[in-house]
Amino acid sequence: MPAPREAEVVRDADLSRLSTFRLPARAAELVVIEHPDQLAGLAPPASDELVLGGGSNTVFIGDFPGRVVLDRMRGLRFEETGDTVRVSAAAGENWHRLVRECLRRGLHGIENLAMIPGSVGAAPMQNIGAYGIELAECFEFLQALDRRSGEMVRLEREDCGFGYRDSRFKSADRGRFLITEVSLGLSRNFRPQTGYASLSEELARVGAVDPTPRQLTAAIMRLRRHRLPDPGRLANSGSFFKNPVLAASDAEALLAEYPALPHWPMPDGRAKLAAAWMIERLGWKGRSLGDAGVYRNHALVLVNHGRATAADLLRLIEAITDSVERHFGIRLEPEPMLVGR
Ligand code: EPU
Repeated sequence: MPAPREAEVVRDADLSRLSTFRLPARAAELVVIEHPDQLAGLAPPASDELVLGGGSNTVFIGDFPGRVVLDRMRGLRFEETGDTVRVSAAAGENWHRLVRECLRRGLHGIENLAMIPGSVGAAPMQNIGAYGIELAECFEFLQALDRRSGEMVRLEREDCGFGYRDSRFKSADRGRFLITEVSLGLSRNFRPQTGYASLSEELARVGAVDPTPRQLTAAIMRLRRHRLPDPGRLANSGSFFKNPVLAASDAEALLAEYPALPHWPMPDGRAKLAAAWMIERLGWKGRSLGDAGVYRNHALVLVNHGRATAADLLRLIEAITDSVERHFGIRLEPEPMLVGR
């Protein structure tokens, strides 16, 4: 293998195309990593450093004064480990490409996570989840460069602090680890998870209650296409708010008042409530402030109609969170990371 070139470094870099929400922003420095060997040449961490993958979970609400490291490392490896197959994917791989490749090879466990935009390295950051499953369920370990010690480390599932749309990489250790590779344990046996209401309805609609892997993946893709805008056509970051999680007693009180509010039990006894329903009920669906708006097909998704500014978006976030808090007594939290001055 020829020695990899040095990592490309761009000063005063335009970030607008590197985040799927596409707000205008610049970084003092952008470093593009395409091969793990280039990590050795990476200067010590700047006080402000941000690792960016597909940019679907980072929204720039201002210029970034430090260094952005763009993770573009590629490669997939498959190892038989008995009944399961270990799939190791470089952090810069596209998540959906990985899902499709596993489907092609008859490896199961991540069908429900089809079409989630973004890169493999971003998946553990927010423990991506959809239609009843989360990454943590098939996650084995990841490799990362610890920017604090300068050492490569291997972190097991228990080390990652996974929670609902959360991990240590997003909270306590934000900015500390540069993830290089993620390893998943997938199965040759297909045990479809079809319990999520909209998914089981869609499977029933097409007469595939007991679906094949392809039917399941196709159903997930139809649901996502209908409910979530393609970031290539309409800039967005997927769900913009997390679904709030309440103590069982608080949830019960709210549900007594709003029996139609969709909700799901959490493993720890608390309840997760559908933020989309609350936002729609308050009349936000399809509305805009400036060029930032609420998507017409899904109230949890905020979109940039083309020329949105950070001020438009911040105004919209505040207006929605204030209105939900006034009516339901719940303060919604953004799901993507809002970055910039
Ligand atoms: N709903 C409304 N109005 C809307 C949209 C939805 O009332 O405009 C209701 C639906 O009828 C449904 C409930 O809200 O009963 C939940 O909607 P949906 O199934 O679309 O799921 P969600 O809670 O809005 C979560 C994830 C999505 C994931 C879906 C499916 C979060 C923050 N979002 O959305 O993940 O695809 O479930 O599992 O947990 C993402 O994180 O970016 C993402 C897209």
